[in-house]
Amino acid sequence: MSDPDGMDGLCVTACRKCPALVDSRSRIVNGVGPDDADVVFVGEGPGANEDEQGEPFVGRSGDVLDDALDTHGLRRRDVRITNCVRCRPPENRDPSAEELANCRAYLDAELEAIDPDVVVALGKVPAQHLLGRDVAVTNEAGTIETVSIGETRLDVLVCVHPAATLYDRSQKDTFEGTIEKVATIVGAEGGQSSLGDF
Ligand code: URA
Repeated sequence: MSDPDGMDGLCVTACRKCPALVDSRSRIVNGVGPDDADVVFVGEGPGANEDEQGEPFVGRSGDVLDDALDTHGLRRRDVRITNCVRCRPPENRDPSAEELANCRAYLDAELEAIDPDVVVALGKVPAQHLLGRDVAVTNEAGTIETVSIGETRLDVLVCVHPAATLYDRSQKDTFEGTIEKVATIVGAEGGQSSLGDF
């Protein structure tokens, strides 16, 4: 398994590979959630809220994701949520190909270590990054493709980005359908329980 410099466990503690992101970030935003999660959600990169709070998907997109998880018997604290890049791009632009490449070893190390049942690519940038090809997200949402990361084989499920649901009702239905599929894969339909509840 890979063990890139600058990582402590699943967290990047120090990195200065991307000058523009080092300038625009307040902090490095690492993944959150159990290190043995059955599902890992992968977004594009931190926005302003995430940069401020140091946690992925805590703004409006995070609310959409949390609501959908809740609807389908999944809980945020039981899943892992991370991003392709861990530092906020300036003006919320998409991360460049070079920035994605610079951050790739951290994402791979995280995914290899967790080895989840399913990796959910939230939107075009993570879907293309993980699958290594062009992806028409709306058409391909709900489909699964297996990829290899080192020795680890991972099932990547394509999903529309939660933000897309804010403007388009049909995207909301597509998003909900994909989260329902995640719940089926991890056996959560009807309610996930954890020992902490007892
Ligand atoms: N928040 C994140 O952490 N990632 C995204 O892709 C969008 C919002």
